[in-house]
Amino acid sequence: MITKYTSGKPIATGAVTRVLVPFPMDEFPFAHDVENEQLRFAFPMEPDAIVYGLGEAPRGINKRGWVYESYCSDDPFHTETKQSLYAAHNFLLYSGAECFGLFVDFPARIRWDIGYTRQDVAGVTVDGTDADIYLIRGGSPREIVREFRSVIGKSYLPPLWAFGYQQSRWSYPDAAAVDSVIEGYRAADIPLDCVYLDIDYMDRYKDFTVNEEAFPDFAAFVRAKKEQGVHLIPIIDAGVKKEEGYSVYEEGVQNGYFCKKEDGSIFEAGVWPGMCAFPDFMQPAVRQWFGAKYQALLDMGIDGFWNDMNEPALFYSAEGVQNALEKAAELQGENLDLSRFFALKDTFAGLSNAQEDYATIYHTIGNEQVNHQRVHNLYGANMTRAAGEYFEQTAGSGNILLFSRASYVGAHRCAGIWFGDNHSWWSHILLCLKMLPAANMCGFLYCGADLGGFNDNATRDLVLRFLALGVFTPLMRNHSALGTRDQEAYRFEHPEDFRDVIQVRYRLIPYLYNTFVKARDNDDLLFRPLSFDYPGDPIARECETQLMLGDECMIAPVYEQNANGRTVYLPEDMTLLKLSGTRVEKRSLGKGLHYIRVALNEVPLFLKKGASLPLCRPAPCTRDLNTEQLEIILA
Ligand code: NOJ
Repeated sequence: MITKYTSGKPIATGAVTRVLVPFPMDEFPFAHDVENEQLRFAFPMEPDAIVYGLGEAPRGINKRGWVYESYCSDDPFHTETKQSLYAAHNFLLYSGAECFGLFVDFPARIRWDIGYTRQDVAGVTVDGTDADIYLIRGGSPREIVREFRSVIGKSYLPPLWAFGYQQSRWSYPDAAAVDSVIEGYRAADIPLDCVYLDIDYMDRYKDFTVNEEAFPDFAAFVRAKKEQGVHLIPIIDAGVKKEEGYSVYEEGVQNGYFCKKEDGSIFEAGVWPGMCAFPDFMQPAVRQWFGAKYQALLDMGIDGFWNDMNEPALFYSAEGVQNALEKAAELQGENLDLSRFFALKDTFAGLSNAQEDYATIYHTIGNEQVNHQRVHNLYGANMTRAAGEYFEQTAGSGNILLFSRASYVGAHRCAGIWFGDNHSWWSHILLCLKMLPAANMCGFLYCGADLGGFNDNATRDLVLRFLALGVFTPLMRNHSALGTRDQEAYRFEHPEDFRDVIQVRYRLIPYLYNTFVKARDNDDLLFRPLSFDYPGDPIARECETQLMLGDECMIAPVYEQNANGRTVYLPEDMTLLKLSGTRVEKRSLGKGLHYIRVALNEVPLFLKKGASLPLCRPAPCTRDLNTEQLEIILA
């Protein structure tokens, strides 16, 4: 049963699609009050209860023992000490003697103290007093998620080819670089469906333009690549370059489509192209306008996009830079002792994504000018909505690939997400695994991390182990940052090992796609914590390194360097499959703990009793997959 409680006059976020009659906050069953213009509430936590949720967030599947913040943040250091990442996914699921779900529909900052201050209390602080809170009671954790998902609407469905393997890098700067990646894959006989175009494909980082020197006759190039079975996926950034004569900027200025400052002038901040203006995606007319801009690239044969920097990321404002330079000038010739030196350093480091800058942005909502900090968490979601709704109207659903960096519940209906700028760290294999069920709870089914890790140099074994998890994530994309070691699968020694792993993905596509569609249709999870399925099993309840996939499988990736395998917990008798290229090795294992050996070119998968797994033959790309002829593996 789901009940909505309303405090004050909430700003519409678009998260919920089902109309519910609200109850007043007086009837909200948890202790709550308002202090300093903030709505606060708390609930007790039993010692063994688990708290799931918060979507794309740091730390564990069980969120207990830390404090999190819903505040979409451009933060490329996903360490366990962080409180926020790029998304605001305000859903919690408490699983104790009783289970309940909680969704706080509020577009600004929320602080979630899940047993950080007091280990037996969860305290939620909403940075305002206008919010809708949804409480879902009755049933198992899985049923509670389904109930929640049924009120937020069906998840985005990508095209089937978006389940193919995808290669990205910041950046493949020109057509020759893209060609060489495709040739590299084809020569090594490693399947590939997409190559990404990061910011350098644009003309001086201007959205919806193409650098014609780097990509002469872009439309013909896109077509030719598609004939090779490869989709090119360009990036779109939130900031629009301030430049006279650049039509997107000029139209935005003329129509009043950009975010403003309090005095009505256009808010500007620096991103890749230098000074930018930021479309006011809170306005429906702006969403329509910006969404239609994607048509320029669709006309050139593009059929997929990734929306970036939409928290929005702000490198600096002119005021911030001026202020920092003045501070530096004041210190010229001074003895930079400890406090002065670090103050100077922090002044420059603090230029990016500065709270003072966000606080100067205003949006037009109806007839009101609303400060950005009141709706911060909707910015990226609404940028993505602009594109998603346009694609829905013009291309129909399921035909255009779209995913975003920043998100809020509601954006799950028109796009997927990727988990942003992770690192080539072993710990980030598990971080990705832990985010998957939490993102699914909020409706984000099409998701995945930068496989191999974005920042820093990856090693061959890390990329292979990361890919072996990515074989199961709907978005299977290898992406890496500027200046890092080449990370394409064919670049490493023994590329045949990479072929073995990536071919497994292609063999699984019929299963993965069907399981995805089923999860979408039933408002269900694709990935579940083991505790959802085995609530009475104490080891399963604590498991943070394995997941249930669909109703048939369990996954348990190897996540440590120099390990020839890992210990896996089987909550019941299962069949271990070691998949590698077209080879399938099968072994029955009893309930309990097992050490399993997994070679670098193998993907382990566990089948539940009575389950069957369809596998097709691998192919160089999804277009060439024969999904009619299936080999059925029986547990
Ligand atoms: C930040 C994104 O998270 C990353 O994936 C991308 O490569 C860079 N921006 C450059 O566009």
